[in-house]
Amino acid sequence: MAEKGHLFSSIFFLTFLHILHFSSPKLEVSTPPPLPILPLPSFSQLKWQQREVIMFLHFGPNTFTDSEWGTGAESPALFNPTSLNPAQWAATAAAAGISLMILTAKHHDGFCLWPSKYTTHSVVRSPWKDGRGDVVKEFVSAATAHGVDVGLYLSPWDRHDRRYSHDLPYNEYYLAQLQELLQKYGNVREIWFDGAKGQNAPNMSYYFSDWFAMVKELQSSINIFSDAGPDIRWVGNEKGFAGMPCWSTINRTLLAIGAEGISEYLNKGDPKGTHWVPPECDVSIRKGWFWHKSESPKSLNELLNIYYNSVGRNCVLLVNVPPNSTGLIAQEDADTLKQFKAAIDTIFTTNLAHNCSVKASSQRGGKEGGFGPENVLDSDHLWTYWAPVEADADAGREHWIEIRSQQNQALRFNVIRIQEAIGLGQRIRRHEIYLDGKKIVDESSVGYKRLHRIKTGVVSGYVVRVRITEFRAVPLISSLGLHLDPFWHPTGL
Ligand SMILES: *[C@@H]1O[C@H](CO)[C@@H](O)[C@H](O)[C@H]1NC(C)=O
Ligand SMILES: *[C@@H]1O[C@H](CO)[C@@H](O)[C@H](O)[C@H]1NC(C)=O
Ligand SMILES: *[C@@H]1O[C@H](CO)[C@@H](O)[C@H](O)[C@H]1NC(C)=O
Ligand SMILES: *[C@@H]1O[C@H](CO)[C@@H](O)[C@H](O)[C@H]1NC(C)=O
Repeated sequence: MAEKGHLFSSIFFLTFLHILHFSSPKLEVSTPPPLPILPLPSFSQLKWQQREVIMFLHFGPNTFTDSEWGTGAESPALFNPTSLNPAQWAATAAAAGISLMILTAKHHDGFCLWPSKYTTHSVVRSPWKDGRGDVVKEFVSAATAHGVDVGLYLSPWDRHDRRYSHDLPYNEYYLAQLQELLQKYGNVREIWFDGAKGQNAPNMSYYFSDWFAMVKELQSSINIFSDAGPDIRWVGNEKGFAGMPCWSTINRTLLAIGAEGISEYLNKGDPKGTHWVPPECDVSIRKGWFWHKSESPKSLNELLNIYYNSVGRNCVLLVNVPPNSTGLIAQEDADTLKQFKAAIDTIFTTNLAHNCSVKASSQRGGKEGGFGPENVLDSDHLWTYWAPVEADADAGREHWIEIRSQQNQALRFNVIRIQEAIGLGQRIRRHEIYLDGKKIVDESSVGYKRLHRIKTGVVSGYVVRVRITEFRAVPLISSLGLHLDPFWHPTGL
């Protein structure tokens, strides 16, 4: 009996499923995305790229001695910020829309801003908080409280420690400190290594492979910065200017930390590059990296120029804002950063193309494919994009996308923004932009974000067409914008 009942209910259930299946509407099947072109960014590299502007904080004995490179002979007694307040640093970053702050835990002078077990040359010997303070700890808690992520710099060159120049003991010391910094302070999103070193510094081999392996073991979502990556590369100068073109891809085998003669390669990257190692542009808001009473912040126009040449050329801008000897970010620096953020919002919050119609040479999967040109006007700048039909290029037909004013009202702008769907690789080698049939831009790579300021100033017209003339694989455009920058006035006009 029990068996029979079970059988009946099973049949009933199957029939019920059957009816459900056939009565539901036919499901639409979407066109799959095109294949990626390698190399691709990692999850953490993509997250980093979208930060756009991040902050460096150079702080230590140099802040109190008015110098840039300490000798290592500084007395820890000098380190005495009277009102150190990392909450003010974090609030300054957050107010400027900055989501990552990197602190110099140790600079070339060797003084440690945290109480390291492996040296006495640290805050422990300083009068600050009677030697019981920990700047790194306060920095991390303040950043976390403001929703800002943290990164750290641990200088390889150490002018204080006597183990320096003795390969084995110094590398052991350095690795021990890396373990302290990456185990005790929670999530660290970026670690900064550089090859900076004085002309007469003693010879010393750094065990980079050991360092990198240790970093990746201790922090799962970290990006390692150095001249040579592996995750983020130096842009080759300290002016905040990326090259044109600027590729996120490069051959890592051609790079070495501290090597001479590679700055041009670092600046531009390599369209044939075997690794995804995008560039970061480090530049200070003032002349020096450390705070000096005699220096003042750059002007808003200088900062905007840096922004266009870094973020606007497929890079992340790492702007240094040095705390002063009181332990606070100077008010004029905080004010400048706030103006910088407000200016960027003024320029980019409104996309003047927002109400335009968009048309393209072709679209993958046809009208219902999900890859139409209208995707360039939505708010997703990564995973929704216009994809043309791949065969077009083989057939000798070019790829283009066009924005047309709808209300019979002229579009007035002086900045054009183009973004590639870099989650599937960087593709565009050359592109041209036309306004009502007249060429106004003739340029190379795009990447995550490319900003073009129109050389002649504000232009107006009805139809903006972007032609993609050379590409590594079918171009994928995730966003297009027309903007009016009221702060920019081309010189000589
Ligand atoms: C470092 O080593 C190179 C060659 O290995 C040598 O020419 C140079 O003099 C050394 N420099 C110092 C400061 O010892
Ligand atoms: C980078 O590597 C690729 C692949 O091996 C190669 O085609 C390209 O020429 C290399 N670039 C340079 C500048 O050597
Ligand atoms: C550091 O900046 C704070 C905030 O602007 C200011 O109150 C303080 O006087 C500055 N300290 C020095 C030494 O300039
Ligand atoms: C788009 O149209 C809406 C509704 O007419 C209007 O409020 C908005 O200002 C327009 N945006 C632009 C950028 O022209």
